[in-house]
Order: sequence, then structure tokens, then C-alpha cells
Amino acid sequence: MFALETRHVTKTYTLEGQPINAVKEVSLAVKPGEFVALVGPSGSGKTTLLAILAALLAPSAGEVMIAGRDLAKLSEGQRVAFRREQIGFTFQANNLVPYLNALENVELMLRLNGKLDKVGRARAKDILNRLGLSDRLHNLPGQMSGGQQQRVAIARALIHNPAVVLADEPTASLDTERAFQVVETFSGLIHEQGRAGIMVTHDLRMVNFTDRVIMMRDGVIAAVYETRAEIDALATRGHADEHSAPAVRSQPVVGGLNLAPAGM
Ligand SMILES: Nc1ncnc2c1ncn2[C@@H]1O[C@H](COP(=O)(O)OP(=O)(O)O)[C@@H](O)[C@H]1O
Ligand SMILES: [Mg+2]
Repeated sequence: MFALETRHVTKTYTLEGQPINAVKEVSLAVKPGEFVALVGPSGSGKTTLLAILAALLAPSAGEVMIAGRDLAKLSEGQRVAFRREQIGFTFQANNLVPYLNALENVELMLRLNGKLDKVGRARAKDILNRLGLSDRLHNLPGQMSGGQQQRVAIARALIHNPAVVLADEPTASLDTERAFQVVETFSGLIHEQGRAGIMVTHDLRMVNFTDRVIMMRDGVIAAVYETRAEIDALATRGHADEHSAPAVRSQPVVGGLNLAPAGM
């Protein structure tokens, strides 16, 4: 079963009376333990798609299934609870609570779910240790570097055992070395814990740590890179830029839905 699946998802914004088709007929599926990179030029619909997957934004058309639930069939109240339990996210601005220390920021997700007990506290500490923050547990965000804050945000996105973890440009504010470290750790945790991960990045070097790369362009899936060789080739191209056309398409893509058998 897929942890996350979209079918023909479309989002049309209206701006000053004009329709803007930000996402068009996007169909994709991510399995537990699979880490997917979402790349593409600015304005191609990545953040809009991520917000739809996070149940923060309703699509204009199409279906989103997360952990087997159709998001459209949830009431507003159910959606809020579902998001809190099944979805983890980290955004470019990591949105840590400034007056809570690292440990408290991570524990917050458990507290919101009414699950902050001894076991949860120990897990929060453990995950921060794993991310190399054992000596920063009691520091406020303002007392940490950008990379450290980003790792706290990643811990917070994973602590409540969500089915799906979404990250929008998690490395945007980091230098290259730290960016690699953060994405490598993130990737390791997603694989190990069996979450379905999607990371938006404009830095193609980061795709090395992912299992599949979905390239968006003008709201549609323009290409999918799945083999190690294709992903590595893409990573060596470095930063994504608007004018470089995707070089390869490994599998048939119909309406953005990859029809090739899984595991290829
Ligand atoms: N709230 C909004 N209202 C109107 N247009 C929007 C809104 N958010 C994004 N857009 C437009 O939708 C398109 C996709 O934006 P976005 O999803 O942010 O792309 P990306 O994350 O790939 O840069 C862009 O043309 C953007 O200007
Ligand atoms: Mg964006």
C-alpha cells in the first residue's frame, strides 16, 4: 500500500479575477520508507502541491489519499486531527517556537497529540541525539545555528510517527556542507522509520539522498528520475535552473502517474 497517493490533483488560484493553474492533474504515489525529491523552477507548483499533501490546502479537483484516508472525506475537525497525527512537515522558515528550547519544540508535537509521556520524552531526546544535538537540548532556537535549528525542525517533523513527512526547501538557509549533513540524516531516518518523505529542493545536489526525483514544470510532472544512475547524473548537474531541460525520463509517465511496476 502507498502512504501517500494523489490522483489528478489540480489547484487553480484566482488572482484579480484571473485563474492561475498552479498544479495540473498531478498523480503520484509514495510508499512507506521512500524518499522523493520534488524539483523544478520557481513557480512550477511545488509549494502548492506540498500544501495540498499536508492537508493545508484543498485541491480544486482530484483526490489525495494519505495513510489510506481520502482527505476530502474528512470534516474540518477530523482534518486538523489527522494532520497533527499523520503528517510531519518542515518549511524553509523552520517555524520553531522561539521561547521553547530544542527538546520542548520537539515534544510539542507529542503534547498536541496528548501523547507526551515518559516514552515520548525519551524518544524526543533520542531523535535529537541522533541528529547530533545532544548538547543543544536546552538551547532556545535563537541560541542555535541555522543548521541546528533545521535539525530540530526535522526531529519535530518525525517525532509523532507520521505516515508522511514533507519538507519545503529544508536546506535553503544552510551552507553546502551542513545541507548535505541535514539531508543525509533526514534520508536515513525516513528509510529507517518507514515514513513516506517528500522534499522540495532547488538544489539538485541534494537528490543524491533520495530514491526518486519528480521534476515539475508549469504545474505538471515534467519528468521522473528513478534509477540510481539517472539520479546521480541529475545530482552532478548541481543547481536546478529554469532553462536546462530534463535529460532523461526513465519510465513512461502518463498524466504524471508512473505506470511502471514498483521497484524498477
Ligand atoms: N495564494 C496564491 N494565490 C495566487 N497565486 C498563487 C498563490 N500561491 C502561489 N500562486 C501561484 O501559483 C504558481 C505556483 O506557485 P508555487 O506553488 O509557490 O510554486 P513553487 O513552490 O514551485 O515556486 C505560481 O505562479 C504562483 O505565483
Ligand atoms: Mg516554493
